[in-house]
Amino acid sequence: MSRRSFLKLGWAAFLGFLASSAGATLKFIFPNVLYEPPETFKAGRPEDYAIGVSLRWAKEQRVWMVRDEHGIYAMWARCTHLGCTPNWFQAENRFRCPCHGSNFSTVGDVIAGPAPRPLYRCGIQRLPSGELLVDKSILEGRPGLREKPQFFVAV
Ligand code: FES
Repeated sequence: MSRRSFLKLGWAAFLGFLASSAGATLKFIFPNVLYEPPETFKAGRPEDYAIGVSLRWAKEQRVWMVRDEHGIYAMWARCTHLGCTPNWFQAENRFRCPCHGSNFSTVGDVIAGPAPRPLYRCGIQRLPSGELLVDKSILEGRPGLREKPQFFVAV
C-alpha cells in the first residue's frame, strides 16, 4: 500500500468516526418517544346502544359500554385481581375472568373470586355534538363515586 492510499484510508476512517458520532449526538438530542394510542375515544351516541352490555369497543379500546334504563357508562375491561381481561357472559348476566375465576356484575361489583375491588369505570361525558367521549385515564370503581356524572351519562 502506498503512503497516499494509507493516508486516504486514515481520513476515511476518521470521517466515518465523525459521522457516526454526529449521528449518536443527534439521536441523543431527539430522544425516543413512546407513541401510545390516545386515552380518549369517541364512542358514538348513547342512542346507538341498546340496554345491556355492548362489546363494540372491547377489542379496540378494552372498554365495555353498559347501558341501563337510567343511562350509560364505560367499564374498563381489566380484572382488578391481576389484570386479565374478563369475558361477558350474556346468559349468566355477568363478567367472568378466565384467569382465576373472578365474577363481576354488570355494574362491576365482585360476585365471586379473588378480585379485591369492583371493576373500574372510565370517565365519560357527552359532547355538544351528542357523542360520548370516553376517557380511560380517569378511573373509578367505588360505589357511590362511580355513579357520579363524571362516570355516568344519564339518558
Ligand atoms: S386476574 Fe382475574 S381473577 Fe385473577
